[in-house]
Amino acid sequence: MPPARVLRATATAALLMAVTTAAATVLATSASAGTTLGASAAERGRYYGAAVAAGKLGDSTYVSILNREFNAITPENEMKWDATEPSQGSFNWSGGDRIVNHAQANGMRVRGHTLAWHSQQPGWAQNLSGSALRSAMVNHITQVATHYRGKIYAWDVVNEAFADGGGGGRRDSNLQRTGNDWIEVAFRTARAADPNAKLCYNDYNTDGINSKSTGIYNMVQDFKARGVPIDCVGFQSHLTNSAPSDYQANLQRFANLGVDVQITELDIAGSTQAGAYDAVTRACLAVSRCTGITVWGIRDSDSWRTGQNPLLFDSSGNKKAAYTSVLNALNSGPIISPSPSRPASPSPSSPASPSPSVSPAPGGCTATVSLQTWTGGFNATVRVTAGSTAIRSWSVRLTLPSGAVIVNTWNAAPSGTSGTVSFSNVSYNGQVSAGQYTEFGFQADGNGAAMSPTCTATS
Ligand code: XIL
Repeated sequence: MPPARVLRATATAALLMAVTTAAATVLATSASAGTTLGASAAERGRYYGAAVAAGKLGDSTYVSILNREFNAITPENEMKWDATEPSQGSFNWSGGDRIVNHAQANGMRVRGHTLAWHSQQPGWAQNLSGSALRSAMVNHITQVATHYRGKIYAWDVVNEAFADGGGGGRRDSNLQRTGNDWIEVAFRTARAADPNAKLCYNDYNTDGINSKSTGIYNMVQDFKARGVPIDCVGFQSHLTNSAPSDYQANLQRFANLGVDVQITELDIAGSTQAGAYDAVTRACLAVSRCTGITVWGIRDSDSWRTGQNPLLFDSSGNKKAAYTSVLNALNSGPIISPSPSRPASPSPSSPASPSPSVSPAPGGCTATVSLQTWTGGFNATVRVTAGSTAIRSWSVRLTLPSGAVIVNTWNAAPSGTSGTVSFSNVSYNGQVSAGQYTEFGFQADGNGAAMSPTCTATS
């Protein structure tokens, strides 16, 4: 963990020591709150990410901004079909692995991008059609999602499959010509390969209520009705000057279908970009199932929109007015309260969770839960903090609120879906250095309520 993160974690722990019931208020005014995009978003139960190019991970200005400001990464090109399967059946993980390793080393989540898309296909796939292409797609999704299994927070399973221009229908492509069911086949294949990743549909020009976004809305509604596994919808949000006036309403109507929504490739050109960044940030904060925002690059010089300067940092890495606009908007959002450190009335059968105000024993760990709730469901983010010595593995046990059923878990393996559930670390997050933390999460149907986690660890 880089020094800034250590400081932040230490400061947060110190605050938790001082805070009992008025946690939200105190955190909102704390010195550590809201000084970076990632920290501020995290306090609001969300991530703030950036698209990253593996080839820039040796650029010290780039990496220092990335590590300071962001807590999620999307590979800009490295997980696309042409990069991962340059010749049929032979896979190249080098760029994607570099990015995943960087994310894991710095406590960032990864959005996988993308498993099935008409663009950036390798030449051999462009030349396939019919059942040969369908089989190649299924094999590609299986291989890639299996390789990154357990390491991906959300996959853009299918990208840009709807047409522009009014009809609300599908885009013509070699994949579409394999049959209209190619999208649901892609989602079912991805679920089978990585059951813990959230599976998203991602597209552009869908940022307001229009015929294209309504076509996608109808598909998501149909998938939910028929049990096709879909967990989220990504809105690329490549904008100029402003967001559509119904941007928030559009996010909300998708959320109301029972999927998360994410802003996945945000960049905004034009002289009114700072105000538009403000509007987009506030819209996400206002929609409880908007789980995070990703900007499509770090500095203006990193942007695919050459010459349009649509990002938050200038080409020298300085913060722009748009950056301040985003940070202020994030800081204006309500803090998601950490769960109480102790149950109100501990019952003998469910021991009180170790309070953050008590230093865990060497080799031990503590866990705290923060909740994001909406009508009929909630997300829980669980932070596992190592004690005064490093741990090699951990397990968190908690009792779900009565009637709650887990529908998705990330960064941990749950023992069940209701009642008392134990969550064990996955392969990459068992080791936590002394005093540091890792986080996992789950989504449940039912009513969110405070939970009292207990943490055990091996050192
Ligand atoms: C872009 C990358 O930023 C470029 O480097 C690449 O040359 C082309 O693709 N929608 C998407 C992204 O889903 O994958 C695209 O990324 C931008 C548009």
